[in-house]
Amino acid sequence: MPTTGSRIEEIRSEITEIAQAVPGAQELMQAMVKLLHERMLKYNWVGFYMLEPDARPPMLALGAFRGATTPHTRIPLNQGICGAAASSGQTVVVDDVSKDPRYLACSLETKSEIVVPVFVHGKVVGELDVDSHFAAAFTPEHQDLVQYCAGLVGKKLEATGK
Ligand code: SME
Repeated sequence: MPTTGSRIEEIRSEITEIAQAVPGAQELMQAMVKLLHERMLKYNWVGFYMLEPDARPPMLALGAFRGATTPHTRIPLNQGICGAAASSGQTVVVDDVSKDPRYLACSLETKSEIVVPVFVHGKVVGELDVDSHFAAAFTPEHQDLVQYCAGLVGKKLEATGK
């Protein structure tokens, strides 16, 4: 059964309520990955990568996540779909990861992926990465949802500094 628009709306409003209730971005990221992973059928791995402060060269480090353990706990900006999203500041959607030479495999079951940057005062500080066992899982409605989630984390970081 496809995820309906009303289901996406339901998840969006639950996440909005959580964002208002939690004290900081760390709690928000933990709650967000749990909710998205448990409730969205095709979101089989959900996690945040955050830029390590002052790392040279710049490096993404795995933060809150749900799903299979990944070998990619640190990713330089010139590698992977994750590096592409962070270095360009653009959402990257890959409908078939087997056809994208940038792709770093986390699970052999992964077929499609979306990575959305998280911004604080206009600068990329990290990203929200979702992998699916289904090809082309991230339709425009899903892109909107994942972008909304990443946006909430950026706002929380701006508001609380943590
Ligand atoms: N697939 C990502 C690596 C992270 S794992 O999927 C969790 C990439 O290509 O950057």
